[in-house]
Amino acid sequence: MGVLRDGKTLDGVLPDELNRLPDPRDRAFAQELVYGVLRWYWNLIPQLRDLMHRPLRPRDQDIEMLLLIGLYQLRYLSTPVHAAVAATVAACEARNKAWAKGLVNATLRNAIRRCRDLEQAQAGSISARTAHPEWFIEAVQQDWPDHWEAILAANNQHPPFTLRVNVQKHSREQYLNLLSEAGFDAHITRFADHGITLDKPVPVEKLPDFNGGGVSVQDEAAQIAAGLLELPDTGQILDACAAPGGKTAHILEQCSGRLEVVAIDRSKHRVALVEDTLRRLALRARLHHCDATKIKDWWDGVEFDRILIDAPCSGSGVIRRHPDIKIHRRLDDVRRLVCQQEQLLNSLWPLLKAGGKLVYATCSLLKAENDGVVSKFVANTNRVRLDQIDAEWGTATNCGRQIITGDGRMDGFYYARLAKV
Ligand SMILES: C[S@@+](CC[C@H](N)C(=O)[O-])C[C@H]1O[C@@H](n2cnc3c(N)ncnc32)[C@H](O)[C@@H]1O
Repeated sequence: MGVLRDGKTLDGVLPDELNRLPDPRDRAFAQELVYGVLRWYWNLIPQLRDLMHRPLRPRDQDIEMLLLIGLYQLRYLSTPVHAAVAATVAACEARNKAWAKGLVNATLRNAIRRCRDLEQAQAGSISARTAHPEWFIEAVQQDWPDHWEAILAANNQHPPFTLRVNVQKHSREQYLNLLSEAGFDAHITRFADHGITLDKPVPVEKLPDFNGGGVSVQDEAAQIAAGLLELPDTGQILDACAAPGGKTAHILEQCSGRLEVVAIDRSKHRVALVEDTLRRLALRARLHHCDATKIKDWWDGVEFDRILIDAPCSGSGVIRRHPDIKIHRRLDDVRRLVCQQEQLLNSLWPLLKAGGKLVYATCSLLKAENDGVVSKFVANTNRVRLDQIDAEWGTATNCGRQIITGDGRMDGFYYARLAKV
């Protein structure tokens, strides 16, 4: 309800809702239902519209959501049909809407009977077939004409569960042994030096030495950032969009206290997440809660050797982890985000030392947010040189490298590196 009706993010509402369920099996099933409905929303909603003779009143949106949950189970899970229908009908009672029981029962039974013809009705709609909004499909088709179908399919997959080993505490091989001793099947990542992917997701508390700071959860694509910075032996690093702190922590884990890291984020709530991350990992950064583009508010005048701008973006590369992006994001958001990305680059570039490097990153596949931003910046800025990234991961673009969602099982990510001459 919070996501579909109130426009909240899944990350913002789900943890509290799940915490209300004492049994871990119920929590896991509820999570599967919520992610599943959001992942397949653009497929389920036209089916529901087809099945209902008239829409429900706005105050009965909860019943529409129950129907989506019921339909999701019928279409995508192996829940026995009678159990899916009975549980959804019973949930009407729990919402004090016993009047809806007949409607829910009839609609779901109708969905079972009309399975074939509902599928056929959807075959002509790319949005329903791929479970994505139309504007997004068009944007991906335009930017990735040879890959758009694979990208949309990857967005509907379950992502891998990948860890970053804290090299200050364990080597990757040592940690792999700890996992094996604890009974978890896992293998090392191909491209990220400190990554391990588990065959199945695990609650973090069950991971060896998680609370002691031995390991963090982070996709392999995101782990590439710290290496790209080519950290110097000493000096000052700026992580301008730091929260929740995954990349800040990775930088600090690699530099064993030799470098000073300034980490900034403009979201107060998210700065608190960076604090939590650094505390758990026993790492220290100079943390500012402010808008990084308002230089006078936070900068002490000492230029940086390296700058990381992990820019706010559409998140189009991480939809498989955040399926609510398909519900919330609009084309207008992309235009607004491009302005913010340009502003971040333009404001922070003067703070980089001559000879220093800046890594620009997004978890987006949209060219406007990636090569579009970087090429415009390079064309309008003095003393900047594109620093080629030689790598085996991703695909070379005009200005950087793009990992397409699902490539090497990684999240969709873009990186470009700029050098100041
Ligand atoms: C992609 S996330 C960063 C993820 C983070 N680097 C990590 O690896 O955990 C982008 C972040 O940029 C922050 N942000 C957006 N605009 C900003 C600005 N002008 N100044 C500082 N932070 C900003 C957002 O609050 C958000 O936390």
